[in-house]
Amino acid sequence: MTLADRVERLEHSPTLRIAAMAKRMSNEGLDVLDFSVGQPDFPTPSTAKEAGKNAIDANRTGYTANEGILELRAAIAAKLRVENCLEYAPQDVIVSPGAKATLYFLAMALFQAGDEVVIPAPYWVTYPEQVRLADATPVFVEASESNGFRLTASELEAAVTPRTKAVILNYPGNPTGACYDRPELEAIAEVCLAHDLIVIADEIYEKLLYDGRAFTSIASLGPEIKERTVVVNGMSKSYSMTGWRLGYAAGPRDVIDAMGKIQSHSTSNATSIAQWAGLEALRSAAPDVERMVGEFERRRDVMLDRLLAIPGVTCPRPAGAFYAFPNVSAYFGRSHPGGTVDSALDLAAYLLEEALVAVVPGEAFGAPAYVRLSYATSVEKIEEGTGRMKAALERLG
Ligand SMILES: Cc1ncc(COP(=O)(O)O)c(C=O)c1O
Repeated sequence: MTLADRVERLEHSPTLRIAAMAKRMSNEGLDVLDFSVGQPDFPTPSTAKEAGKNAIDANRTGYTANEGILELRAAIAAKLRVENCLEYAPQDVIVSPGAKATLYFLAMALFQAGDEVVIPAPYWVTYPEQVRLADATPVFVEASESNGFRLTASELEAAVTPRTKAVILNYPGNPTGACYDRPELEAIAEVCLAHDLIVIADEIYEKLLYDGRAFTSIASLGPEIKERTVVVNGMSKSYSMTGWRLGYAAGPRDVIDAMGKIQSHSTSNATSIAQWAGLEALRSAAPDVERMVGEFERRRDVMLDRLLAIPGVTCPRPAGAFYAFPNVSAYFGRSHPGGTVDSALDLAAYLLEEALVAVVPGEAFGAPAYVRLSYATSVEKIEEGTGRMKAALERLG
């Protein structure tokens, strides 16, 4: 069959090769330590699980309003008011089957051929592909390791052209864990206002923030930037609810309505029982979130210490999320009996074969000097895996 051009424009994920190899090796009974997973390893908070089960028993299993049940949209609006100093009506909120779908509907609602969308690199793999699916052009701006992978206002300014429609900001970020401080956000917001840019603020890791840091949504910096920002968030990461598929956006009513139109003709509503579970998570799971954040922070510290103990490896301190993004380029050009390590892809393949450690090569995130390790796994596995990684790297000739 002849496939549509838009599919040809999509890139296959370079992570698939490593992921497929890791799976095959695990199936063969090998003790592979997998640091590639992008999801919390904790169970969904019990109150949310109960609410999901109760929703089934109460037969809340039919279609819901396309944009989500009013109770959940109101609870999200209340969360945004109390936690983020953002005033939205429930009608300014749309609930979707996962933040990935939220972002996709948003891209389809905003972008078209000729539009450029600034994406700071390293970036989450899905942003460029969604921009391309909407016929627009992703413009990558490298956020440097020396600045902790945070885009500066002047780097953004330099990337702006008359075609620039939006910038996608994700903090705390996947794959780096980087998070912006208020003055940095103020400077970025100024550039956005000066050039009439839309901000897509992907705040899905908002609650996974360490060292006592407080989260500032760029939309909360003032009414003008709020008018130009669509805030995206979801339940997957903060509430360990990846499989329930629940994401949401809040923003200008015309954008939310446009997203609703697209959602109504594609997925329809997010799963009814997931919405009731998500509502309960927002109401009562704060103590669970606090426990998970404490554990992630402990693991972050172990992961970072161990990575920095590997000669030649550098790694900015992740402020949030559950990923470390070490620079491994000191090992490029080094050899092993099976060949030479010329890239992060090669290095990831070498670590998998030689150390039974699965990491995601930085090529996937537009940053080929790095690999991503998720610390959504136990301290024991982090210690064992980073130990194996160090030994394997030291064996390179
Ligand atoms: C930065 C970022 N945004 C959005 C998502 C989408 O999350 P979900 O579709 O599970 O809500 C992810 C998931 O990996 C992510 O890392």
